[in-house]
Amino acid sequence: METILQRRKRLLGTRVPQYYDTPFHPVSGMGVWVKDVTGRTFLDAYNNVPHVGHCHPHVVEAICRQTRTLNTNTRYIFESILDYAERLIATMPPELNVCAFTCTGSEANDLAWRMARCFTEAEGALTTTHAYHGNTTFLDSIDGTSVRSRRPAAAWWATIPAPSSTPYPTVCAQQAVERLVDNGYKPAALFIDSTFASDGLLMPEPGCLGAAIEVVRNAGGLVIADEVQAGLGRLGTDLWSWQRLGLAPDFVTMGKPMANGEPLGIVVTRREILEKFQAEDRYFNTFAGNPVACGAGLAVLDVVENEKLQANAASVGRLLADSIRELAKRHEYIRGVRGIGFLLGVEIAKHGHPEEPGPQETRWILNDMLRRGVLVGLTGPRRHAMDTLKVRPPMVFTSANVDRFVTTLDQSLTALAAAGGAKD
Ligand SMILES: Cc1ncc(COP(=O)(O)O)c(C=O)c1O
Repeated sequence: METILQRRKRLLGTRVPQYYDTPFHPVSGMGVWVKDVTGRTFLDAYNNVPHVGHCHPHVVEAICRQTRTLNTNTRYIFESILDYAERLIATMPPELNVCAFTCTGSEANDLAWRMARCFTEAEGALTTTHAYHGNTTFLDSIDGTSVRSRRPAAAWWATIPAPSSTPYPTVCAQQAVERLVDNGYKPAALFIDSTFASDGLLMPEPGCLGAAIEVVRNAGGLVIADEVQAGLGRLGTDLWSWQRLGLAPDFVTMGKPMANGEPLGIVVTRREILEKFQAEDRYFNTFAGNPVACGAGLAVLDVVENEKLQANAASVGRLLADSIRELAKRHEYIRGVRGIGFLLGVEIAKHGHPEEPGPQETRWILNDMLRRGVLVGLTGPRRHAMDTLKVRPPMVFTSANVDRFVTTLDQSLTALAAAGGAKD
């Protein structure tokens, strides 16, 4: 009899990725809890798409209500897309005053890129070194996490290092712009994920990129703030992570958490940029911004506000980071804790070498925590240096959940030491 894993390989290919070495088969969820196929309950300290918690009743109800009523597309008139756009824009500076809708974060970044090219009439792209902004053909060409291992970098793409120290070396931005210009391209846009998640999750000093961005702007480039990973209050400090960094973006792109799992991506930009694009180019996306997705998006905004989830991310996130730092006093595997709010990275050391990164140890802990009933993830600059546990729970994570998480991490680290480190 064919197992579900064999069936998955037969139908989806043998290399379709999984998070864990032991396949994890969740079947239901509520809040921060997920139940697997055997009926066992796991604490979810990883998933940011169920932003307001798995299957939040207010969101589920909004989706069901609209699904029962009508689902159409943006070529027809309906009000919820306008209500949603108004509420979203109200969270942005006055000049960011129009929305375009997509289904995914990738599509949002791709669309912002098309608009940037149209507005600037330039074709050069800038990103941070290991940034990931999505999966379209264009975004794959600027994927700093993998592209270099597969093919040479495009002549129209240049990178700047993610800011890991202050002061930021502005000369890097000058060199990146020069590379583009030498290759015959002026910069159209610089993509910035303000938490530098794929660069290893960094939270640099606010304002540190100001001078570098000025270099890009002086060369005619626009700024695309990618909020797909960290937006909607996750850092606790601000609703949007670019606000914490002190950017003044021309575009804000959003995806993952915006509708708690319904496909909803958005580009917010300036009217003049959108108008020029609409006059000169063509964009329609059948499913994007449909009434069900907008209903879910509105419900998510309700919950974030009503349940004060940004403030929860600030206070419970601080408790989580402090508690992991306490553990670090007893476990030399913990090299450091980075991040803010509910976006934390726990840097793990190699067994017996506290100064060296330990990607194998990190993976061991990830798998062991799953065995002990807690979901976490992995990150780190470059795919072969995943030496950081990514802790990014739904925004309804409580201090009791912190307790459970830290106890489990403690047990895992103790077990790793007892095993003499992660063996091949
Ligand atoms: C920062 C960032 N931008 C864009 C994307 C792409 O979003 P999606 O997978 O919804 O297309 C991701 C996905 O991981 C992301 O982390």
